[in-house]
Formats: sequence, structure tokens, C-alpha cells
Amino acid sequence: MLFSNIVYTALAQSMTVSAATMMVTVAANNKFQFTPNSVTAQPGDMVAFNFVAQNHSVASSTANKPCQPEQNAVFSDFQPIPGNPNASPNVNAANTPMFMVPITDAQPMYIYCSQAQHCQQGMVMVINPPSANAVSQYANKAAQANNNVSPRGGMSGGSVTNNKAGTNPRNVLGGNAGDAAGTQTTAKGKGKGKAKAKAGANAGAAAGVAALLGGKGKNKH
Ligand SMILES: *[C@@H]1O[C@H](CO)[C@@H](O)[C@H](O)[C@H]1NC(C)=O
Repeated sequence: MLFSNIVYTALAQSMTVSAATMMVTVAANNKFQFTPNSVTAQPGDMVAFNFVAQNHSVASSTANKPCQPEQNAVFSDFQPIPGNPNASPNVNAANTPMFMVPITDAQPMYIYCSQAQHCQQGMVMVINPPSANAVSQYANKAAQANNNVSPRGGMSGGSVTNNKAGTNPRNVLGGNAGDAAGTQTTAKGKGKGKAKAKAGANAGAAAGVAALLGGKGKNKH
């Protein structure tokens, strides 16, 4: 009886700390790209899109119609970064907008930037890609799209907070959260490595979310 209680408690605890935050950099190196362009996330996880240059957006489409908002699309709206993104050090790096998207199911999410022709130019990514080549298939279709269309009605499916800790996920998410950053890269490859990396990321990511929430009230947009 006692034993099973202990097992149950351990299980419950591992479930409550299982939320992870995956960082995606928007326009790293001032290029039209999401980095990484493939993320595996579980329901309860958070994907944090950190905008570091120019004037981009995060929008969601279906797999077959890239560069067009899906029904009830996710949209970050445009997040312009003032100043010279190539300045070194980038004066804005410590105060960049992060669009936080809670993941509510395990379905794939197809993401594009709705600015100008960025979608056609390969600024696309997939959350929970259903196959190894899902991202390249999506990018290939995007390259053929006639138009690049923003969702209507402003921000949807997430909220923006300021990344006051800087663009390095280790700083953003706290001491152990480098693991969460590691998860992104691992998830890109094979499913095999994922479970392990995620388990390691749990503690750090949970702390990171707490840190983010703690800092939120002070942010100005
Ligand atoms: C950002 O891009 C949007 C869409 O093209 C545009 O409406 C907006 O004026 C731009 N903001 C800045 C500050 O350039």
C-alpha cells in the first residue's frame, strides 16, 4: 500500500513538472529563417518564438496551403525590432519580443512568416512534423505559393512577453534550461533521442517558465 502510494506520488510529480519550453529564434543572423525549423512538443509545452531582427511574424497554415492562414490561425502579429540588427553587440538583443504559444495537442502545426515574400523564401517551420521530410515538403509548397497572407484580427493563439534575459535560451530559461535548448536540436533528428533529452529538460524548463511568468508583470510593450 505504502509502496504504491510512493509510486503514485512520484508519477504525479513527474507529470506536473513535465512542461517544457522550446525556443525558436525568428530571423537568426538576420536571415529569413526559424531556428530550429522543426520542434517536437507535447501538450502542455510552450513554444517561445524570439524575434531578434527586422519585422517578421509567426502565422499558422495547413500543410497543403502554406502562406495562407488556416482557420483560427495562430498569429503573433508583426514584431518589428527597431535599430540596426547587425550592430554588434545588438543593443536590442536583451529586450526582444517573444511570442509564447501554448501547445494543446500533438497535432502538427505549420508555421510561416507572413511578411512580404518571406514564406515563399523559406521562412517556414513545423511543430510536431508528421514525417522526417514534412518540413522540406512544406517549404517546397511554400515556394510555389502565389500570395503570402496574414491572418486577420490581430494576435491570436499566444501572447507576447519581453525576453529581457537576452536571446540565449540558457539565460531565458534559467540555469538548467540549456537542456531545453538542447531538446530542440535533438528533436530535429530522430525520435530516439527525444525522450531522454526532454526528461533532462523538464526541471530547467519548468523553472524557466516560472522565471518568465515572474518577470512578466514588469514588462512594457
Ligand atoms: C511591419 O510590417 C507590417 C506588415 O508589412 C507593416 O504594416 C508595419 O508597418 C511594419 N512595421 C514597421 C515598424 O516597419
